[in-house]
Order: sequence, then structure tokens, then C-alpha cells
Amino acid sequence: MISVRSKSELVKIRKAGLIVAKTLEFLKRKIKPGITTEQLDTEAADFISKQGSKAAFFGYRVGLLEYPAHICTSVNEEVVHGIPSARMLRSGDIISIDVGVEHDGYFGDAAITFPVGKVSPEARRLINVTREALFKAINVACRGNHLSDVSYAVQDWVEQADFSVVREFVGHGIGEHLHEEPQIPNYGEPGKGVLLEPGMVLAIEPMVNAGTWKVELLEDGWTAVTKDRKLSAHFEHTICITESKAEILTVI
Ligand code: MF3
Ligand code: CO
Repeated sequence: MISVRSKSELVKIRKAGLIVAKTLEFLKRKIKPGITTEQLDTEAADFISKQGSKAAFFGYRVGLLEYPAHICTSVNEEVVHGIPSARMLRSGDIISIDVGVEHDGYFGDAAITFPVGKVSPEARRLINVTREALFKAINVACRGNHLSDVSYAVQDWVEQADFSVVREFVGHGIGEHLHEEPQIPNYGEPGKGVLLEPGMVLAIEPMVNAGTWKVELLEDGWTAVTKDRKLSAHFEHTICITESKAEILTVI
């Protein structure tokens, strides 16, 4: 079942979304050659707790594994769920930062891929196409459209640009939990799945690879990397379906 949120629930999800957006904006200013991903994690943890919120990823469990950090920092060939570490960012890297918070019992989730210093034209193109794919998807996320229209919009834009869509990870419903129904693949035929209704809250998150769509999991049990070790980018917004255009909740 996909939840349809009440006005008062939306107020709370909006607040969580705002804190996510502010955290990403805050981190954006810290991204420079020489900073480590661990430093970004510490800064994020501190910022989120000062807002009276909880970092939603910390301790998040998949089976027996608990996610050990507050944000995900996925560099270059890392697709998602990169664990912050002593790795230092260098000019030419790209870094996907994924932030989720819980505020007053409700969740928000968003991700942005940032260039570090000066990056290659191909890296810049990958980042732009991935961001555009997210907005193509948001544009069709409206009442009366089917869930897979969102998936198709991503795939169509990405493949026209000669990049590939990650299959193993999906977007998701969000609200009282970080991950709720439905799952939202970033590929598929249009016109399938549930009809979108006002009040549904979705985290749409295209993950786009420069080469093959195939990914591998590193030994840490979390970090997903591209099989060919080419670059990957990730953008995510939490949105709410309305009577007209979707409302983006993870913006300032
Ligand atoms: N935005 C990602 C997702 O929805 C981040 C999850 S990180 C985890 O899957 F640690 F919570 F798994
Ligand atoms: Co998500």
C-alpha cells in the first residue's frame, strides 16, 4: 500500500526535506580538494543534530549490516552507499553525497553529485544528464500518470545521452520510514504500475553510469561500484504528488 499523506504529515515531511536540503547546501561549501569524506561526515552529523534531527542512515540495517556513517559519500566509480573514510578528495573527482534525515518522526532524502575542482568534460556531462533525468522524472510525476512513466522518463533521457541506468537500486516511497512502497526503478516501459495520486511522497533517485549499467558490491558490504570502474552520478529529491506539478520537498 502506498500512503497518501495528510496535510499535517506533509508539514512534517516538508520540514525533514528542508533540513536535508540545508545540509546538502552546507556540505557543498565544504567540498574542496584536500577534504576527506570523513570530515564531510562529521560536519554533516553536527549540522543535522543542531537542527534537532537525526541522520537517517546511521545504523540503518540491511540484514545484519548496520550502516556506519551519517551520510553516503560515493566518489567517482562508486555508485551509491560509499562509506565516508580518510580518503581525500582531489581535483577532477566527482562526489555523490546522499543525505537522509528523520525529523519529528518523518523522513526526507536527497542526493547531489558535485564536481571537485576542475573535472573532465565527460564528468560534467554525466552530472548534467543525471540531474536532467531527475527533473524529467519529476515533470511526469503527476496525478493520473503511472508510476512507470517516472521510470521511463529517466531511462529515455539517460540512454539518449549514451549513458546507462543502474538497475540494482531503486527510488522509493518515503514518509514515516526511509524506505516505503513503492519501489521506483529508473528504467521500464511507460504506462505500468499504480496511478499516482495527490499526497503520495516519493524519493526519485536516478543513478547513472558512464559505461556499463552493471555494478559490484565492495567487501565492506555497502559500497556499490561500477563493474567497469567508470564514473557514476546520482541525484535524488523527495517529492509530493499534487493536483498539478509535483512539489519538491528537498529544496531550500
Ligand atoms: N538514498 C539512499 C537510499 O534511499 C540512501 C540509503 S543509505 C543507507 O537507499 F545507509 F540507509 F542504506
Ligand atoms: Co533514497
